[in-house]
Amino acid sequence: MVEPVVPPALVDGDGPPVVLVHAFPVDGRMWAPQVAALRGRCRVIVPDVRGFGTARGQLTDPLEAGLEGSAWVDLIADDLALLLDELGLEQVTLAGLSMGGYVAFAFLRRHPERLRALALVDTKATADTEQAVRARLDMAGRVLAEGVGIVPELMRPALLGRTTRAGRPGVVEQVTRLILEQDRRAVAAAQRGMAGRPDATGQLGSIRVPVLVVVGAEDQPTPPAASRSMAAAIPGARLVEVPEAGHLAGLEQPEEVNRALYQFVSELGHFTQ
Ligand code: MLT
Repeated sequence: MVEPVVPPALVDGDGPPVVLVHAFPVDGRMWAPQVAALRGRCRVIVPDVRGFGTARGQLTDPLEAGLEGSAWVDLIADDLALLLDELGLEQVTLAGLSMGGYVAFAFLRRHPERLRALALVDTKATADTEQAVRARLDMAGRVLAEGVGIVPELMRPALLGRTTRAGRPGVVEQVTRLILEQDRRAVAAAQRGMAGRPDATGQLGSIRVPVLVVVGAEDQPTPPAASRSMAAAIPGARLVEVPEAGHLAGLEQPEEVNRALYQFVSELGHFTQ
């Protein structure tokens, strides 16, 4: 049994609390443009998921720890709940990008009373196909054997849209650097952990908090069509499609994503739950 731990987190600003959970295989620094934009009006909380970034020392590999099925994403969600306890926060707006969204679905299952609102960014509710699970396990093995240096080449086409790959070398370089700074064992652990996440599609219709769905128009792993269906299944959800952005929309088109998040958070007072 692996106990939850308080994850290290950047906490900045003042106002309604907004937790931003990062994608794979990077860390909370991917949210830097959103932190800069939101911290003037919100308390922005950016944890690192076990094994990544400043949470390197908290690495938990599901294979070594005997965690099966949803146990790894559940553990990350429980880590977040502990962080909220430590910060004295009853309820937060939770935004998760891709893997962060999988964690958000786990949080919704396990700690629904602590959600004020939910932003699902470039993510999906569905579980992996058998083929996707095999691909994850293969990549976990390869990265352990060959090192994290193989990951940017493997993942760049999935993580960044064609506009970014062709015309934003600074973003390409930034994402490459973020990947290369991760521990290979964290990359493998997250692949194994994400492979076991359950299908959250059945949860969508019963979500009772305000939901924002954001997707890059050039996102390949979680394409706009999938986000449209996900948003359509969630009562009252708002959908924002970000032009000329891929999967890491918040880094590729920060202003558009900042605007969507900011508007969502600032309007929350007008929602009734
Ligand atoms: C991510 O960006 O977090 C990944 O694409 C998630 C995944 O591998 O499913």
